[in-house]
Amino acid sequence: MFGTVKNMNELFELELRYAYDCEQKLVEKGLPSMIEAAQSPELRSALQQHLQETKGHVRRLETVFSACQLTPDTKSNSILAEIMSAAKDSAANIPARELRDAALIANGNMVEHYEIALYGTLGAWARQLGYDNAAAQLEQTLDEEKAADAKLTELANTSANRRAARSHTAG
Ligand SMILES: [Fe+2]
Repeated sequence: MFGTVKNMNELFELELRYAYDCEQKLVEKGLPSMIEAAQSPELRSALQQHLQETKGHVRRLETVFSACQLTPDTKSNSILAEIMSAAKDSAANIPARELRDAALIANGNMVEHYEIALYGTLGAWARQLGYDNAAAQLEQTLDEEKAADAKLTELANTSANRRAARSHTAG
């Protein structure tokens, strides 16, 4: 599994595996690297808080797999890998800290928007398939991803973008 996806149950399981890989990569590498590269205490703390939530998202997906009588497994998520690679570029190529923070917030928003699409889809598919307990769990994570996205946007709009606009590196 998976070559050919033959029914909606398999489609749901496949997408769950992408989500499980996504959350694990964010816990192991994605969020810690962004926290390390972030400058402002507000951004660091928002990312720290979301790292804690994301550890909960990993656990919650394990609950979802089991509620649907599935064995937890991953499928390599290349979409998340691309967004993480963009965040790595921000950290490596933007020496001016305030400019880098604005870029990291943009990368963070992209992760959250992807996860909002992922969990919106998974919740709806779980409902359709009659996995109501699993759907409730997936919807709870969806709400936390939306809140994390809103927090990043608020940081950008209230301070980070203004600081970035004043910041530059000579040459
Ligand atoms: Fe998440």
